[in-house]
Amino acid sequence: MLEAVKVLLEEVGCFTPQSEEELINFRVKFLGKKGVINDLFETFKNVPNENKKEIGKAINALKKNAQKKVNKFRGNFKSVELSEKFDLSRPVNLDALGGKHPISLIRNRILSIFKTVGFGLSEGPEIEDDWHNFSALNLAKEHPARDMQDTFFVQTNPDMLLRTHTSSVQVRYMEKKAPPIRTVSPGRVYRNEAISARAHCIFHQVEGLYIDQGVSFADLKKMILYFAKEMFGEKTEIRLRPSYFPFTEPSAEVDVSCNICNSKGCNVCKYTGFLEILGCGMVDPNVLQNCGIDPKKYTGYAFGMGIERIAMLSYGVDDLRLFFENDVRFLKQFSSL
Ligand code: PHE
Repeated sequence: MLEAVKVLLEEVGCFTPQSEEELINFRVKFLGKKGVINDLFETFKNVPNENKKEIGKAINALKKNAQKKVNKFRGNFKSVELSEKFDLSRPVNLDALGGKHPISLIRNRILSIFKTVGFGLSEGPEIEDDWHNFSALNLAKEHPARDMQDTFFVQTNPDMLLRTHTSSVQVRYMEKKAPPIRTVSPGRVYRNEAISARAHCIFHQVEGLYIDQGVSFADLKKMILYFAKEMFGEKTEIRLRPSYFPFTEPSAEVDVSCNICNSKGCNVCKYTGFLEILGCGMVDPNVLQNCGIDPKKYTGYAFGMGIERIAMLSYGVDDLRLFFENDVRFLKQFSSL
């Protein structure tokens, strides 16, 4: 057997492939699954113990040398072919790189701010049922507040609709998980609104929810202030105005100081020095109850914001429709770095 291995070693040593094909055949013959070397290892099992050391060494050397040969010539033939076909010295002609959409950029920025303080991510369906979009959120069937959100219903099934906010995701989340809950829900939402510079029938939201024992309005205010400073700059101030949402009590709308005019008054903030950015409040006990959470034990806050609105403020865009037209001249102006 030793003799046979020595002959093969010699063959490997002398081998110089002239083509890709020769190299492949060589590899298959020596290193393939059914190749010579695997055969040798098979026969090796029956070699008497006193010869094992010497023969084992020889087979290992054969394997190593064969592998070295393959590595040495691998790629040689291909590059010859390539350089014949193509001029590899030609300078690269880079296509212009695409970038992320400004709405995605702002959404990612918002999510990363909340991620750093422990909020997880949750998503849900865009076609919702009445329960998750309305009823569970304390809007009974004839509740007048349903008019606040002009809804697209599914024609064949009036119980189904295009979600008007991502609060529906929060309901789904509360139904499934026990407190403590800390989650943000981004997504596309739909409202039957006339399209204008300030409104669209499709837009994007990020809503947030925090539920635990002893959560207070002060926690909510602190979190919103933290978010506003991270998003719009350290000098940003917030202002809370009492408001109404059926699913929160008390409720507030939040304004941030206008960093375009330093709150002196400009046409973006309509000379008020402040810009509205989100709605928020303490989750109504009825909503907790509807979702299987004990309102005597737990309290929580929720907030929701429109991504387009934040993007308009961040980038100084004065017409919301621009985000949906996908005009490259507009999109090109946003860096995705
Ligand atoms: N869901 C509300 C909207 O779409 C926003 C909101 C969320 C308000 C949570 C309060 C609390 O307008």
